[in-house]
Amino acid sequence: MQFDIIIRNATIIDGTDTPVYHADVGIEGDKITVIGDLNQAQAATEIDANNKVVAPGFIDVHTHDDTNVIRMPECLPKISQGITTTIVGNCGISASPATLSTAPPDPMNLLGQQEDFKYPTFAAYAEAVTKAQPAVNVAALVGHTTLRNNVMDDLFTGATTVQITAMRQTLREAMAQGALGLSSGLAYASANSSPEEEVQQLAQELAEFGGIYTTHMRTEFEGILTAMDEAFRVGQKAHVPVIISHLKCAGAGNWGRTVDVLDKMDTAFEHQDIACDCYPYSASSSTLDLNQVTDEIDIFITWSDALPAQAGKMLKDIATDMNLPLMDAAKALQPAGAVYHCMDEADVERVLKYKLTMIGSDGLPNDPHPHPRLWGAFPRVLGYYSRERQIFSLETAVHKMTGLSAKRFKLLNRGEIRTGNFADLVIFDKDEIIDVADFDTPIAAAKGIDTVIVNGTIAYTTEQGVVNRAGRFLARNSQ
Ligand code: ZN
Ligand code: CU
Repeated sequence: MQFDIIIRNATIIDGTDTPVYHADVGIEGDKITVIGDLNQAQAATEIDANNKVVAPGFIDVHTHDDTNVIRMPECLPKISQGITTTIVGNCGISASPATLSTAPPDPMNLLGQQEDFKYPTFAAYAEAVTKAQPAVNVAALVGHTTLRNNVMDDLFTGATTVQITAMRQTLREAMAQGALGLSSGLAYASANSSPEEEVQQLAQELAEFGGIYTTHMRTEFEGILTAMDEAFRVGQKAHVPVIISHLKCAGAGNWGRTVDVLDKMDTAFEHQDIACDCYPYSASSSTLDLNQVTDEIDIFITWSDALPAQAGKMLKDIATDMNLPLMDAAKALQPAGAVYHCMDEADVERVLKYKLTMIGSDGLPNDPHPHPRLWGAFPRVLGYYSRERQIFSLETAVHKMTGLSAKRFKLLNRGEIRTGNFADLVIFDKDEIIDVADFDTPIAAAKGIDTVIVNGTIAYTTEQGVVNRAGRFLARNSQ
């Protein structure tokens, strides 16, 4: 037998949360065609994976890489972590379908400048991704805030019936063109005035396409249980699965409450299809939100358009230097980006361990001093939380970033090492893998990733970096 690639002596963690086993993996074209003993077979490319783990390529279910996969198609922060598929359009903000007549409003500015929003239709975005040939596969959600911004001059109000009808029409077209579903970012001022009914109306378009609803909830602070009720109601009434984005209990007064939050997840899961994603850090990051300014936690300023020289400092130090109260200093920095050390480590571990939790980086690729999750989220789960903290087995850790994710986001024939599946694979050293990026030095590739294969093509190796860009645009249900 002749293969394109054979990976020999692999320790296989197949993404299904079952124990490791040993085998060779044969790849022909873009597919895994044989898993077994390939001693008698040959291949154009042979990889000896002795002492290494072979796992399905990681799926980053929560990203803001919408325009970056086109502008920087090597996707180094992703592929160097072993990520082979990135899901964009989370938190209510997506690059398409968008028509911007002004600079992008907060937090759409996380995705780029006005000129980066040039995809009036979902199909135009899909085509641009295909043309850019990114190193990783890309699938996309449609953002509620993006839809609002297309039709509303004032985002600090609810949409009118006419505007809702227009948004529904655009969403419908995007779903027909392959969008995974709808995302919302109700905590942000640009969507917070949207009543539940507005979101409900949009979600109504999803079921007939088999779409999903993901949400950065109205609050992750004290009112989180009520916000969860809202999210679940939307999904239940629209008959669509709900994915709670970056599930956390934010704010010092809220620590420890993931016990109640996960109880609520359990209760809802009994009668509806829900899940959540999580990044493995006790600090969050986004644009600087005045509602989150407090002296109870450390807030680090990652960028500031108004006062660029203040970037890279703690907000409280900036305030002291400027001789201003914290809030006034924050206002003077706007627009700006921040890292908020707003979570309790025990809460983070509890959510990571939870059976319905998938891993999503929420990395912010345009931030000059990004939260380290951009470069480190996946290796950190494997190296720190699984190997060092032992909060779950390596098989479970891999499942939360592959098989579970593919199933929830309906990425067909991916996320598991199985004959006939796409050959999206990562080879790593389970004793070496670890994140290197930290809050001080956030731009650093992880250690321990050996080789990454995307659609049957070697895409990345530690020695050579990105060697091929073989990612595809994954329309919903594409196989
Ligand atoms: Zn978010
Ligand atoms: Cu996000």
